[in-house]
Amino acid sequence: MKSLCLILVVLLALSGSFGVDRNNFKSCDQSGFCKRLRAFKPERSQYVADFSTQMLHDNMFFLDVNMVDLESEKRTVLFRYVLKVSGLVDNTFRVEMEEVNPLYPRYITLLALKDSPIGDNLKVISKKDGKLTLANTKGHRVVITADPLKIEFLDKNGEVAVVFNENSLMHVEPLVTKQERTDENGEIIPEEEGTWGENFKSHHDSKPRGNEAISLDIGFPDADHVYGIPEHTDKLALATTTSGEPYRLYNLDVFEYELDSRMAIYGAVPVLYAHGLKRTVGVFWHNSAETWVDVANIADGTVVSSLVNLVTGGQKRRVDTRFMSESGLIDVFIFMGDSPSDVFRQYTRLTGAAPIPPKFSLAYHQCRWNYVDEADVRGVDDNFDTHDIPADVIWLDIEYTDRKKYFTWDVEKFPHPAQMVANLTAKGRKLVVIIDPHIKREAGYFLHEDATEKGYYVKDKDGKDYEGWCWPGSSSYLDFFNPEATRYYSERYKFENFPGTNKDVHIWNDMNEPSVFNGPEITMPKDCRHWKEPQEGVEGIASYWEHRHIHNEYGLWNIRATHQGMLDRSDKKYRPFILTRSAFAGTQRYAAVWTGDNAAEWGFLAASVPMCLSLGIAGISFCGSDVGGFFKYPEAELMTRWYQAGAFQPFFRAHSHIETKRREPWLYEPATTALIRDANRRRYALIDFWYTLFYEHSRDGLPVMRPLFQEFPKEEATFTIDDQYLLGDKLLVRPVVTAAATSVQVYFPGGDTNTLWYDVDSYQPRVANGYANIDVNIAKIPVYQRGGSIIPRKERVRRSSQLMADDPYTLVVTLDANNTATGSLYIDDGETYEYKKKKYIYAKFSYTTEEMTYTFVNDKATYPTLSWVERIVIAGIKVPPKTAKLHQGDKQVALQMTLHRGNDVLVVRKPAATMAQPWKITFSY
Ligand code: GLC
Repeated sequence: MKSLCLILVVLLALSGSFGVDRNNFKSCDQSGFCKRLRAFKPERSQYVADFSTQMLHDNMFFLDVNMVDLESEKRTVLFRYVLKVSGLVDNTFRVEMEEVNPLYPRYITLLALKDSPIGDNLKVISKKDGKLTLANTKGHRVVITADPLKIEFLDKNGEVAVVFNENSLMHVEPLVTKQERTDENGEIIPEEEGTWGENFKSHHDSKPRGNEAISLDIGFPDADHVYGIPEHTDKLALATTTSGEPYRLYNLDVFEYELDSRMAIYGAVPVLYAHGLKRTVGVFWHNSAETWVDVANIADGTVVSSLVNLVTGGQKRRVDTRFMSESGLIDVFIFMGDSPSDVFRQYTRLTGAAPIPPKFSLAYHQCRWNYVDEADVRGVDDNFDTHDIPADVIWLDIEYTDRKKYFTWDVEKFPHPAQMVANLTAKGRKLVVIIDPHIKREAGYFLHEDATEKGYYVKDKDGKDYEGWCWPGSSSYLDFFNPEATRYYSERYKFENFPGTNKDVHIWNDMNEPSVFNGPEITMPKDCRHWKEPQEGVEGIASYWEHRHIHNEYGLWNIRATHQGMLDRSDKKYRPFILTRSAFAGTQRYAAVWTGDNAAEWGFLAASVPMCLSLGIAGISFCGSDVGGFFKYPEAELMTRWYQAGAFQPFFRAHSHIETKRREPWLYEPATTALIRDANRRRYALIDFWYTLFYEHSRDGLPVMRPLFQEFPKEEATFTIDDQYLLGDKLLVRPVVTAAATSVQVYFPGGDTNTLWYDVDSYQPRVANGYANIDVNIAKIPVYQRGGSIIPRKERVRRSSQLMADDPYTLVVTLDANNTATGSLYIDDGETYEYKKKKYIYAKFSYTTEEMTYTFVNDKATYPTLSWVERIVIAGIKVPPKTAKLHQGDKQVALQMTLHRGNDVLVVRKPAATMAQPWKITFSY
């Protein structure tokens, strides 16, 4: 038997088998509370509301809820809770429930929300037959049924859109103290196994507070699908989990993570949306502890419980979900929609949108673990020029440091970092360096010594500095909950504290789940302790938070401190760029996210689309995957297709593992290098389009990369499409993600409105009519511009985006069926906060057969751009105009035009209008 195992191991090693070691990570059954709660399926809920306690304070409504013993005749009250329902602006409600007088406070996630939510008025409009109805000012209602407790959220038409506890799965495990309990005979009642401690592999979790988990079932009548709760590797539309594992939300460093999986990986954003033909709604589970989510879609033939069938009366469309968290309190935001864009906005309104990124960060990034020394960096930088490939950023992974001590340099390999940075910035390029949150425990390392002396590290269960293992070997982890530790950490980013850096050096915070190689599930033990504001008389377990409570938020504390440090280092003048691996609700306010350690396989290329779509609707638009794949080596075709896909995803960075063969674009055959060059150039041509999309996102909070159903919410076929997407509402992208493709199926949405889609290469229009087979050769990236849109392009090839700042624009106008089109453009200096002082241009383009206009949305805001219009391409022209005349200020100039293709593409040549002022072109026939 032993030798058979050995042979198997050897065979596996030889075959280079790639894949996750599931043994390192818990299944629901191995996670105490998930197992406990999943088995908890009462016939009837024990939670009963007591309407006599009702109280209303502005937008907040309070009510006592009792957990009663249904067996006892008098229905003895076992535990008492207070339920709070708040009405919030933008069609949002919030429901919170916790014990009356808990033994100690439960942790409420501190960083997810951008600000305190703004209240909308709430009033009680009726109370009869055991039901109490509340209404907000927009006509949405909340109906609370007392016995058993059920909370329904009604849409504007009075139909139930969201319902809590209909399946009786609400539960808040009461906080209790550890003491022996005896029965009537004086016999000790044994505690349920695991209550005061749990084991996983060789790890013991001491669970000093015992069980404190929460559960809630949330149903969505009329929904066809639910989406969200990234980060997972499966489809955008979430699957029914009844016969398998629930979706897990627990930030983990999963080595060789697998595809099509509900396993937890690096990020955890507990927002979920339900969409159907009737409406879109959403819920945000405001909780940073380990969470599992079950999904049951009626359409999949699943019945969650007999009750569902009873209450739904055999509805055809409905999705039931259930959230289970290890700790925290029931705290849920409900978004009443009613369209996808509404719910996405309602979510970012709470957790924030990404601020306008520095422009370079939307261009191409070249990374590798590692560029080994200054000469290597120089070589890579120069090769981009030699091969005429634009690039904005070179990255340095962990090996640049003095043996993994962050904020230091390996002085042998990087003796002149400032000079190295200057070489890059001379071409408008930047440097990004990695700073991980683990701190090497080495005598003499200033950071370790300061943190030890001042008590800045996360503590273990006994209150000593926690020690784990990561890249540097023995490491400790800064406790960002301690404001002093955060201030200290932020200050490390000051230029004088990190010599060799300047405003053009940006930061990559990796391993911040946090990753602990020898920890349970490769992360920090849950009974580690985080700082809590000291309070008189408070000691013991109430005087600190356990890692259990905050785990999914740890990375957010990390990047927030980095962000502050980067703002302070330039006196808040320059915008920071940060890349983070771990993600939580609100991460978008500080950093971009990438999908971690993927592999050079077609499946991972394909997965990058649904993964980023899912993060995007969860507020994190600035997303990308390692182009080329991190592990393994991409052959030419895969590499080409990955560049072509990456060029149309928000964060565009090539990266690779230290042990893989080098794969910079020029290391392939010239034909492949040429294709990569072409992909990068396409990205750069659209750099101002991207920048405008991110500006608009910062204002409206809508995803930059959008699922089709967002723009076409009534078109059922779009609900499950996740291999293509829209950029803003204008470009339809369907990357080729399979080997040897000669054609791909592209879905053209908008058939009922005669939407036209123009192939961006040929301007060939296509009337939307569902799926079409599109021929693709290796050079083809199927991208279509929506009829009715105007997109700004910059077509001169430069080495970096900064060098393109003053370049002229080509405006591509693709006409809709009414011969009109609109578009927008945002311009500013690309790197500072001067835009906050109105130094920017946000302009709208509008085209009708009579005229095309360029007007400023905010005429008090302006920016002295040197850019001008070089060319206007109008595709879909039916009757070409005879003359065109530019009007700008006092100037009037007759313009030249030429006709192309089948005389349906008109090019207005050299209007030469400056973009610093509004202009107009009139056409006559
Ligand atoms: C992690 C990151 C990877 C990085 C490596 C070394 O695996 O996900 O991108 O290259 O650490 O820092």
